[in-house]
Amino acid sequence: MNAQQLIAAALDPSAILRAQSIEADAWQKDILFCRDQQILMNCCRQAGKSTVVSAKALHTALYTPGSLSLILSPGQRQSAEVFHKIVQAYNSMNRPVRAEYETQLKIELANGSRVICLPGKEETVRCFTPDLLIIDEASRVPDDLYRAVRPMLAVKKGRLIALSTPFGRRGWFFDEWEGTGPWKKVKVTWKECTRITADFIAEELRAMGQGWVDQEYNCLFTALEGLVYPDFEKCYTDFYTLPGLGKSVGGIDWGWRNPFAAVWGVLDRNDVLHIQDERYLRETPLHEHAKALPKIMWYADPAGRTEIEEFRSANHTIRRGMNDIRLGIAAISARIRTGRLKVNRFRCRNLVAEAKLYRYPDAKERTIHGENPVDEHNHALGALRYLVSRIDSRFIAKLRRKAPSAADGPIETDAFLPTEGEGPSSSSPRPRYSGGEGSGVRGQNPAKPATIQDIMNDPTLWETLN
Ligand SMILES: Nc1ncnc2c1ncn2[C@@H]1O[C@H](COP(=O)(O)OP(=O)(O)OP(=O)(O)O)[C@@H](O)[C@H]1O
Ligand SMILES: [Mg+2]
Repeated sequence: MNAQQLIAAALDPSAILRAQSIEADAWQKDILFCRDQQILMNCCRQAGKSTVVSAKALHTALYTPGSLSLILSPGQRQSAEVFHKIVQAYNSMNRPVRAEYETQLKIELANGSRVICLPGKEETVRCFTPDLLIIDEASRVPDDLYRAVRPMLAVKKGRLIALSTPFGRRGWFFDEWEGTGPWKKVKVTWKECTRITADFIAEELRAMGQGWVDQEYNCLFTALEGLVYPDFEKCYTDFYTLPGLGKSVGGIDWGWRNPFAAVWGVLDRNDVLHIQDERYLRETPLHEHAKALPKIMWYADPAGRTEIEEFRSANHTIRRGMNDIRLGIAAISARIRTGRLKVNRFRCRNLVAEAKLYRYPDAKERTIHGENPVDEHNHALGALRYLVSRIDSRFIAKLRRKAPSAADGPIETDAFLPTEGEGPSSSSPRPRYSGGEGSGVRGQNPAKPATIQDIMNDPTLWETLN
């Protein structure tokens, strides 16, 4: 950039994007030019939100000497992505102000401005007085971290930009979006982003379902109402645990039209289960799965008797998992609460995606189908449940004594309401490879069995863990 272009970029921040051959969308220009103190951006995946805020941060650093811009997100890896975009933009402008100091997470310019990328931990974010605070993936930033960073803006009247896709009707991002606070609110759905095609969304809809598309592309906060595992994020890890550190175990949920799902990892000596790989494929013959999966201890959906036999013939060690979803969910929840479940979020993307969608029925569905979770997004999670139901068999046995049910326990609730006049659809036969709880018995227990909510709300449930 020559001196003239530099002056032009001072007046027109979209020139920073142009230097990267990006022509800013109308909504991006709006963000770049606006001078609001607080901005909330509820934008779909890949809309270009990180790109635009990185230009805004670079503009602040270049043209407000001595300024401090901070980037915060739930994890340092995500903040580092935005930081990387800032450095890219800075390079594409030929570094008009010299860098005095530069690392992967921090840059200090000769004009005294700094841009710093923060880890998502409360104790490390207290000592700054920023001019600009960017919170990426804001809906996933915990409330206490948000509360800890807000006071930093008081003295200099720093600007706050929070950007995200929605993540359920909870947390500060949702509250601020719905509230009447002094925020400039910008919403960009996939329809406003010309780079996302209708064909792509149709495929996302087919593969991931309406809840996913509503959350990730339609900017709706509805998808996560009544999640079965609302705290699943607590399990995320970036680390890979070596198999030698414990026992290698895995779980399998059989599937054909629904995906075949297997998750596996290591149960270490401290009873922490590290799930670090998954297989998630539709319409793939069983022998291919048997060939692809490691030879470890497997626990599988007991409904798939022939599949279990076929795996045995392929020299796999495989046992039947347990089918009571109430107890399985309670056991997984207990692991989440006590930090004994770790999930490698980069290698287990389908497991992570399902945990964001697997939910209890809403009020209307409940009146027709009952209390159990909706029978979708439960393939990788089903595999995990078969595994946990067996490695935590003592915990489960104790629960079972408190909450007896029919032999196999209840099955999940159907996702779709019947059309008017139709009754509950429990009688409809399930296809082979249904991926659900194929052999579940519903309505055979004369005494009303305890619901999942009864079990989870029972204070004595957790006593074994204390
Ligand atoms: N106005 C634009 N014109 C062309 N390409 C753009 C524009 N804005 C962003 N992009 C490109 O779109 C892609 C996604 O951008 P970006 O990472 O900023 O999106 P995001 O909304 O932060 O995505 P995610 O939801 O994955 O965090 C990038 O390759 C970026 O260069
Ligand atoms: Mg982004």
